[in-house]
Amino acid sequence: MKFPKRFLWGVSTSAHQVEGGNHNQWSAWELENAKANAAQGKAQYHDLEVFDDIQAAVTTPENYIAGAAANHYDRFEADFDLMKKMQLNAFRFSVEWSRIEPNEGAWNAQAIEHYKRYVAALKKRDIEPMMTLFHFSLPLWFTEKGGFEKRKNVKYFVRFAEKIVEELGKDIRFIITINEPAVYALESYQEGNWPPEVQNKRTAFRVLRNLIYAHNQTAKKIHTMNRRYKVAIAKHSSYVFPGDDALLSRASAAVLQYIKDDYVLRRIRKTSDFIGVNYYLSERVYGYRVHNEDKNLSDVGWDMHPEHLQYVLERLDKKYKLPLIVTENGVADADDTARKWWLAKTMMALNEALKEGVRVQGYFHRSLLDNFEWAHGHWPKFGLVDVDPTTLNRKPKQSAAWWAKFLANAKKN
Ligand code: BGC
Repeated sequence: MKFPKRFLWGVSTSAHQVEGGNHNQWSAWELENAKANAAQGKAQYHDLEVFDDIQAAVTTPENYIAGAAANHYDRFEADFDLMKKMQLNAFRFSVEWSRIEPNEGAWNAQAIEHYKRYVAALKKRDIEPMMTLFHFSLPLWFTEKGGFEKRKNVKYFVRFAEKIVEELGKDIRFIITINEPAVYALESYQEGNWPPEVQNKRTAFRVLRNLIYAHNQTAKKIHTMNRRYKVAIAKHSSYVFPGDDALLSRASAAVLQYIKDDYVLRRIRKTSDFIGVNYYLSERVYGYRVHNEDKNLSDVGWDMHPEHLQYVLERLDKKYKLPLIVTENGVADADDTARKWWLAKTMMALNEALKEGVRVQGYFHRSLLDNFEWAHGHWPKFGLVDVDPTTLNRKPKQSAAWWAKFLANAKKN
């Protein structure tokens, strides 16, 4: 396989999932709901194939509290060394707004200093930083004002973006404004699985519109600061495919794909320098309905089709003609039996897309570390590196060793 010389090979994380010690709308919600979540754990997860292995975890309140997470806030130097050993040259992370602006309008110099050291530590190792500004976690003062439910609150986010880009920007080129706007709107405002647990389609739609507006405002602001910044959103993009040849299945799949991807992308393309693609799963459609095969499932119950990444990339390339970067891709696999296969298939999918002329410029695997998986808690294991739950010691998994070897070879070719 052949990859471009300057291809970005990275891993991707987010602040609340790995840092530990955060105080934001998630940490507040976790403390309030841990007991209730544990009480519902059995009902919630008993259908999963891995239920026997996770039963103890999902019925324990601590599972649902991020707490120290992987304590990456203090251990980032060692984590970057691990990345270097794994042959990586790029890293996607998020800055935690609640640390930087703990109270409205009050910047925390210590937190800003921390992220300066953080980015400098990446640069020192020749690792290209990709900074995310909003990856699901928000300061409490902002959510108390109604967060992204209100358009007039977007200005606070833009002000935060301007401040942090001013402070860290000299060492950064790639900026993700918002991670998966549609996922956030759906989980927090339609399904009510995430804080603030609203279940209202109209509110969810309003939040989505406000997030699109927030991206456009922020991207414009960052571009006026300096045109060299490459700004994008990270778009959750599943692949929707018809399960048979019937016209209805094909038409429904096309419509669903359009709703999932194009509603957002059409509205942000002009202000974006590339599209960040988060690919985890595919949806099979029969007739009007999604009906997945459920044959080859990851620990969290998602159908595994790593090869479909190729089609996701080809479709977006054709439609939007923007450079693409895979900003997240990975698999929940506690015993590390599927990850190597997933990675191998993914490398082939990338290679095929490149051969077809798709302008894909990088690939970020999720995740570096086993981390906190939002409402699921700690049990799903997406990491290339195992984190011991008590000592927090790191241990690269076999899949990580395999991928590092692959990358060392790819660089020689
Ligand atoms: C989110 C990540 C999360 C991953 C796996 C993605 O939708 O962006 O934060 O770790 O899903 O659950």
